[in-house]
Amino acid sequence: MKRSLYCGQVDSSSVGKTLTVCGWVHSRRDHGGVIFIDLRDRTGILQIVFDPSKKEIFNVAEHLRSEYVLCVTGLVRPRPEGTINPNMATGQVELLVEKLEVLNDSPTLPFEISDYTETSEELRLKYRYLDLRRPSFAKNFILRHKLSQEIRNFLNEEGFLEIETPFLTKSTPEGARDFLVPSRIHNGSFYALPQSPQIFKQLLMVAGFDRYYQLARCFRDEDLRADRQLEFTQIDMEMSFIDEQDIMDITERMIARAFKNVLNIEIKTPFERLPYDQAMLRFGSDKPDTRFAMEIVDFTKDLADCGFSVFANVIKAGKVVRGLCIPKGAAFSRSQIDELTKFVGEFGAKGLAWMKITDAGAESNIVKYFKPAEIKTIISKLSASNGDLVVFLADDAKIVSAGLGALRLKMAKELNLIDKNKFNFLWVVDFPLFEWDENEHRWTSLHHPFTAPKDEKSLDAKTAGLAQARAYDVVLNGVELGGGSIRICKKNVQQKVFELLNIDEQQAKEKFGFLLEALSFGAPPHGGIALGFDRMCALLCGEDSIREVIAFPKTQRASCPMSNAPSEVSQKQLNELGLRIAAKGVKKGI
Ligand code: AMO
Ligand code: AMP
Repeated sequence: MKRSLYCGQVDSSSVGKTLTVCGWVHSRRDHGGVIFIDLRDRTGILQIVFDPSKKEIFNVAEHLRSEYVLCVTGLVRPRPEGTINPNMATGQVELLVEKLEVLNDSPTLPFEISDYTETSEELRLKYRYLDLRRPSFAKNFILRHKLSQEIRNFLNEEGFLEIETPFLTKSTPEGARDFLVPSRIHNGSFYALPQSPQIFKQLLMVAGFDRYYQLARCFRDEDLRADRQLEFTQIDMEMSFIDEQDIMDITERMIARAFKNVLNIEIKTPFERLPYDQAMLRFGSDKPDTRFAMEIVDFTKDLADCGFSVFANVIKAGKVVRGLCIPKGAAFSRSQIDELTKFVGEFGAKGLAWMKITDAGAESNIVKYFKPAEIKTIISKLSASNGDLVVFLADDAKIVSAGLGALRLKMAKELNLIDKNKFNFLWVVDFPLFEWDENEHRWTSLHHPFTAPKDEKSLDAKTAGLAQARAYDVVLNGVELGGGSIRICKKNVQQKVFELLNIDEQQAKEKFGFLLEALSFGAPPHGGIALGFDRMCALLCGEDSIREVIAFPKTQRASCPMSNAPSEVSQKQLNELGLRIAAKGVKKGI
């Protein structure tokens, strides 16, 4: 068996040559005594032909079924006039089989290998290795491979060292739950799988490596979504003696080069920068999709004296009123508007006020409460015109941003306002350092607790809410592609942040003592970033879910139908680990 070419590589330049190809029977057609087989491998499909004059081979070919594995040798010839398929790379040619080896057989598959079959995701994941035979998957994984090569080449040329950091480690906080691994040697103690290599990459800077990168696997026990998996890959970077501008610049150049070399798309740099406050105000999101306008507008000042008590009371209470214009939305029925009200309700909104815009002004159940000048302001600030629907939320800024931000995205998708060919990159900057956690009644880090403040003087319980972070997120088409920051490199500043986060000295020592100690031994100024590699691949492949670019992903219910992970373990293993199971079963709501 000496393969000459992959199936997808056989084209007109091979005509007249005798070649050997290997692959799977994609389909078989019997045509008046001639058998045609589409032979598939990861590069594509080649038509192979069995002529009845070669009786012995033909007899075997008659018994070939889908997904049998073949090695065939034969003469490449042009396809007869009328049978040329211009949609296939190999559509000009076919291979007339002279030698056939059946390498393996296969029963009928649980589903067809086709990008067009409607099979449940559960079944497709159970037989993931079959689903991965689909040509679109081959395309995605070839792209993923190319992308990682490009990234590595770029970073190597820029003087970065690729260094691996441990999986079996101590908790690295990134805002999710840890996956814990019980220790056999130290019964009752646990390793944590890293949520990111954050602390280790900082320690590598203290060690003096200056520029580090890793295509790092990260583990986070969080609820799964289209863009989240329990384990995922980051392009993780850290640099010493730099500032924000250096990291943004190198990230932009890395992304631009990857897009150019992988997709042949020119990306404009530098990326636009948007302060966090603006992102929340105008787009209701810290990862705005700027491929379409439909911006949110604030009316808190304009409507402070309006006669609509819902708005007036909310404004009096120091909260906000903001609106959004839905183009052509005046045609929505009452039940459609009720649906939208329900939708924003999921984000905590207590209702959705609305007005249909007409030639004469506006119409709705609440228009009567507004002065003509207020209606005029609403129409003009939202650039609304006849036939549009304007909607408002009145509440605290967090709820209003979440509700209108999500509604903006939903409407843009439904009204087809998004230009799918655009790649809109931007940096979100000027993040707050802390967020107030209502439930736990304490400050938490918006990014992670190692992020440096813009001004160390802001590290005070009274002013913590106003403290800004030296952090930056890179956003592409409404997806948070990555985030990073300049780090705290002084022990006393790091201690101060832990205090504000309500991590007392004892806890700080237990959890992060080794980092605090390292910072005291001449830590250089440093910072970095991590990009979600799976998310980047999905965006480059035009896929909505990162599951399409991960070979063996988990389901929404955090399991693997193929291997049946997670699964119970033997009593012997539990004994070795010193563990006893207190409760079994799947958590509710998952
Ligand atoms: P952060 O937590 O923002 O930062 O993660 C960086 C990027 O990783 C991707 N990402 C994920 N992708 C898939 N599934 C997940 N569950 C998931 N969680 C995150 C996102 C995200 O932007 N240590 C810091 C980086 C730094 O400060 O240098 C960190 O991990 O694209
Ligand atoms: P009501 O006075 O309760 O009948 O409400 C009149 C309109 O205001 C309805 O369309 C409600 O959905 C809407 N509404 C009520 N509360 C809010 C709010 N907090 N923000 C925006 N609209 C609201």
